[in-house]
Parts: sequence; structure tokens; C-alpha cells
Amino acid sequence: AQRRTLIAGNWKMNGRRADGLALASDLAGRLKGAGEVPFELLVCPPFPLLFPVGEAISDSPLLLGAQDCAVKQHGAHTGDVSAQMLVDAGCRFVIVGHSERRQDHAEGDALIAAKAAAAHAEGLIAIVCVGETEAERDAGQANAVVSRQLAGSLPAGATAANTVVAYEPVWAIGTGKTATPQDVADMHAHIRAELAGKVDAADGVRILYGGSVKPGNAAELMAVPNVDGALVGGASLKADDFWAIAASC
Ligand code: G3H
Repeated sequence: AQRRTLIAGNWKMNGRRADGLALASDLAGRLKGAGEVPFELLVCPPFPLLFPVGEAISDSPLLLGAQDCAVKQHGAHTGDVSAQMLVDAGCRFVIVGHSERRQDHAEGDALIAAKAAAAHAEGLIAIVCVGETEAERDAGQANAVVSRQLAGSLPAGATAANTVVAYEPVWAIGTGKTATPQDVADMHAHIRAELAGKVDAADGVRILYGGSVKPGNAAELMAVPNVDGALVGGASLKADDFWAIAASC
């Protein structure tokens, strides 16, 4: 299947309005100057920056996404942000089930599936994150953990058009450690096989790698079979680095 490479920047809880606007405008300018590119470029700022960044890049092919969404559409849910609100801000994507949310907020697979379903109901593409901890990998359980997360976190109705899977080994996030290309190849092949039967047009689902992706290792990682892009944290906060990662596809 033809899968368009997706390079996604997860800004996490970083930056103020001026920083976000500068970064997004810089990237939008580079995209404009580059003409046809073989990748889609996505930025996922923190909630308060979605509207200003969305407005600043509204005439650019730079895509906007959020880092989480609520299960419910609206109502008495203090502190939550609905998928509908994300669409209103110009989002096309939303990350769900990032390991930091699984850890910090005890999010489980069923909740993540409900969030992805809420995103789908509003026409958003859900980037569903999976990945094992170091202890799980050392115990030889990496594949089983990811299988369980996929089975639980992908909602009914997931398709290649509305769902992206991001494989992020927890021990590689923000640590400077990356999985080896062989580990990534093995896990992405495992994920591809697991998607068959669970998701419509499973061959078309993009599988991103995340975990200390940098300009220096991006080309090697992006060349791995079944790696259809990257979910980038730290290196997505610098336009030069994020652009260099995209350009290495
Ligand atoms: O969502 C992004 C990942 O958690 C990777 O973060 O690139 O800072 O390791 P990192």
C-alpha cells in the first residue's frame, strides 16, 4: 500500500505563545519554500497554543494536531478539551495514549480507545501510541505488551484513513537511547501483522517510530521497512532539527 510519510512534532508541555508562533511560522515558511515534499509535516502544540498557531498556519500545508482529547463532546467535564474544540482550532490530528499520559494520568487502553473513537466521530485522525517499558522488554514481553495495547486501544471503526499508530518504546523517550533499526524493524513488522484483521485496509495504516529521533539518526530509522514516519518530541522544538529530520526521509 502507498503510505505517505508523516513527520509529527509533539511539543509536549513546552513553549509560550511567542515561541510556538515563531516555530510554526518558521516551519510553514520552509514548507512553502520547498514546494513538493515527500512527507506530511505536523505540529502538536499544547492546548492554549492551538488557536494562535492554527490561525498562523491556516494557509500553509503545515498540519495541526493536539496531544490529547476528551471522550465526551461537551458539558460538565472540568479541565477537559473535546475533539470538537480541536477541530474548531484547525486540528486534523490528535495524539491519544501517549506513554506520558498512560503514566502520569493512569490512562488505560479502554479510555484511549474511547478517546480515539471520540476523535474519529469529529473527523480527526487519531495517532494511537503504544510501546513497552524497559522492564517489559528485558522480560521478553515487548511484543505481547504492544499486542495487548493495540487490541485494547484501537476503537471499532479504525481505518487507514482515520488512524495512525505510533510505536514509542518508553525507555527511548527523551533518554537519547534509540531502539536499534533491527528492533524497530521487528516491532513494526509485528504491529503491521497485528493490524491485519483488526483495522480496515490495515496495509495502509501508517506506523510511526518515536523515541529520541534526531537529525543524526532519522535517515537510518526512516529507512526501516514499515516505518512510515516519526513522532518527535525534543527535536521538534527546534525548527532546524525538525526540518532536518523531515528532509532525511
Ligand atoms: O511523542 C514523542 C516522543 O515521546 C518522543 O520524545 O523525541 O523527546 O524522545 P523524544
